[in-house]
Amino acid sequence: MPDNAPPKTYRVKSFGCQMNVYDGERMGELLGERGIVPAAEGEDADLVVLNTCHIREKAAEKVYSDIGRISKRGREAGKQPLIAVAGCVAQAEGEEIMARAPAVSMVVGPQAYHRLPEMLDTAIAGGRATDTDMPANAKFDALPRRRKTAPSAFLTIQEGCDKFCTYCVVPYTRGAEISRPYSALVDEAKKLVDAGAREITLLGQNVSAWSGEDEAGRTVGLAGLVRALAKLPDLARIRYTTSHPADMDEALIAAHGEVDKLMPYLHLPVQSGSDRVLKAMNRSHTAESYLKLLDRFRAARPDLALSGDFIVGFPGETEAEFAETLQLVDAVGYAQAFSFKYSPRPGTPAATMDGQIAPEVMDERLQRLQAALRRDQLAFNEASVGKTCQVLVERRGKQDGQWLGKSPWLQSVHFTGDIAMGDLVEVELTSAGPQSLGGRLRQRALA
Ligand code: 5AD
Ligand code: SF4
Repeated sequence: MPDNAPPKTYRVKSFGCQMNVYDGERMGELLGERGIVPAAEGEDADLVVLNTCHIREKAAEKVYSDIGRISKRGREAGKQPLIAVAGCVAQAEGEEIMARAPAVSMVVGPQAYHRLPEMLDTAIAGGRATDTDMPANAKFDALPRRRKTAPSAFLTIQEGCDKFCTYCVVPYTRGAEISRPYSALVDEAKKLVDAGAREITLLGQNVSAWSGEDEAGRTVGLAGLVRALAKLPDLARIRYTTSHPADMDEALIAAHGEVDKLMPYLHLPVQSGSDRVLKAMNRSHTAESYLKLLDRFRAARPDLALSGDFIVGFPGETEAEFAETLQLVDAVGYAQAFSFKYSPRPGTPAATMDGQIAPEVMDERLQRLQAALRRDQLAFNEASVGKTCQVLVERRGKQDGQWLGKSPWLQSVHFTGDIAMGDLVEVELTSAGPQSLGGRLRQRALA
């Protein structure tokens, strides 16, 4: 293969979860260290990194259509970009990608992307490189320092999953549960705050399974880390996602009641309201134990907004079992939620279970579930009208003078005013739609 010109510009396209967004930003910084800059809006990049998601079939197939589209554009423009496939599809299907897509010269798994610059040298020399090793924490140690960040930043504190829900690929693509060390996280959080972050969202596939040793050598869980970060004076808000009901402990519930900077929002996937389906999914909770857990959180923090994930059409799900999911939704009253049709993933136990559900049945159930979730989201937003709350200003809105920010309950709020990005302002919520609220600025720059 001939040599390639060293790339001057890059574009990272991240799909899937917020951990991929975090990884995508880090890959951008690694490339930045080599003097490669982000391609301007609308301009073709010399290097494209597709940071992929394997969670559902549709997400995974996207990588091949994207590679085809990028190569076609390259042919038309007379200049082929270098293509790297990163993320969970790279981990799960690395060899297949290399065999199926000659245009791809780098395949790098989610635990190995710190090696992207070396792999790039191989690609520039006309070769192809694959790295899907899973060394714990190596990538975090090798990451460059973050110089500038948006007001709301992500911080990955934990990766991987030992829960083995029968539908899920994550234990195979992201590996076993590992926690990043406490001191490394406090240090990275300080740097994020110095670089402009006012809000940090702690990320992990099982973020509530995080554990570490504090300065005094004591073992602490997520609540201990939250309390440590809350001491950073310029950090205004802390969030975390995603949790598993099995790991939610008393200390975390108490932190929701006691730590003001911990925002009143909890994303706690339930997946189904049927105990039979939950058992077949290898979830360790029942509908009732989940509801009881939420009651304890709400007792600690009465204004807590709840969010969840749902799967419809898991193998064998009957109409009556699906109706139990709708009942659970009615009982909780979610402020926000994510719902999906079951997608069989290669290598997972559920993919070969009897009773796979017909696509049209799944479609119909998903529509009914989403109608209920939309209804509750609108009701939650409408109930917020009249409240005055703090909003973190995250970006400009579409209209002149308009700003967009987030309420403590993670609602998008738009309003106008003479303020700046990253300000924490007091806003009266004046109108509600299904996806966002309108507000009136009451007080500028609180902190
Ligand atoms: N099919 C459909 N949805 C899935 N999820 C995970 N695996 C699958 C699958 N095979 C959903 C779950 C999870 C969210 C991240 O994606 O609801 O909580
Ligand atoms: Fe998708 Fe899961 Fe990988 Fe995130 S960890 S990108 S959700 S497969």
